[in-house]
Amino acid sequence: MAKPTMTLNGKLVEFDPGQTILEVATQNGVEIPTLCWLKDATPTGACRICLVEVKGARTLVASCAMPAGPGMEVSTDTPQVHTSRRLNIELLLASGNHNCLVCEKNGTCKLQALAYQYGISDIRFKGQTQQYATEDSNPLIVRDFSRCILCGRCVQACNEIQVNRAIGYGYRGAASKIVTSGDQPYHLSDCVFCGQCVEACPVGALTEKKAVGQGRSYELKQVRTTCPYCGVGCQMLLHVKAGKIVKVTAAQGPSNKGRLCVKGRFGYDFVHSPERLTTPLIKENGQFREASWEEALGLVAKKFKEVKKEHGPGAIAGLSSARTTNEENYLFQKLFRVGLGTNNVDHCARL
Ligand code: FES
Repeated sequence: MAKPTMTLNGKLVEFDPGQTILEVATQNGVEIPTLCWLKDATPTGACRICLVEVKGARTLVASCAMPAGPGMEVSTDTPQVHTSRRLNIELLLASGNHNCLVCEKNGTCKLQALAYQYGISDIRFKGQTQQYATEDSNPLIVRDFSRCILCGRCVQACNEIQVNRAIGYGYRGAASKIVTSGDQPYHLSDCVFCGQCVEACPVGALTEKKAVGQGRSYELKQVRTTCPYCGVGCQMLLHVKAGKIVKVTAAQGPSNKGRLCVKGRFGYDFVHSPERLTTPLIKENGQFREASWEEALGLVAKKFKEVKKEHGPGAIAGLSSARTTNEENYLFQKLFRVGLGTNNVDHCARL
């Protein structure tokens, strides 16, 4: 069956029923700026940055929330669209403390990028903004509501992406803010510190505490890797400066789809721990001494043979780790079953 069509900037394009105007535009290479839209979450239409003109509509419409319709005539780049987006960006800039010089998100802030793109050098509106103290009473996340634009992406990330339901909108009017239950600080709330809200925040309202002051985005090298904590295989990006991990963000992977848990996102201190073992150790007379891999593995093989000869293979057991891959665990059980002749193989799936 033929797909329905609509006109996008004067060009006839096909779409699938249920797609939004934003999705149709994106798949046809037409860029529409967004702020509150979050992949895989219900559109909220909160920021009004993605406004487009639809012929016959009374007002401009939010393309992220408006379904495409057959015969629709959509224009994404008219003077009216431009003026409205510009006005909305100005209002967002006027509504809080957006001092980019000292903001941790300088260089990756979506509002900053839009202000630049739309040539906003002066803010015409001088409103009275709410004063908020920065919340950094937990070791992982800094919340600065004076930079919050109430786009709601953190709420969507918490409620729909991670389904933790720890935050939502609170209060009314100019006093509106994102709150936990009872407006408690994160560490006293239901928050599980997955940090998905930080990942979703397009401005400097939510930041990783350990990364503050550790490097601007242009100084950080991104290294894609697999989370080492459990067998799910979440894909992540290490942000590295001078060989040191500054922060971790989620990458799109088949098993995690852009999500991370508290361990994957924040539990990377062990990488640089001075207590981390970097060479095999052999215990002699109650004291550990450093050894080569050849010597250490040779000793283990010798001991296995002695135990097996003296007590039989049933006296040997192997305990593997959930932090290794499926393939490594397969080889591990093969070593014990086939190599050593014992079925005493187990693993620790607890971290
Ligand atoms: Fe569409 Fe915010 S991105 S209203």
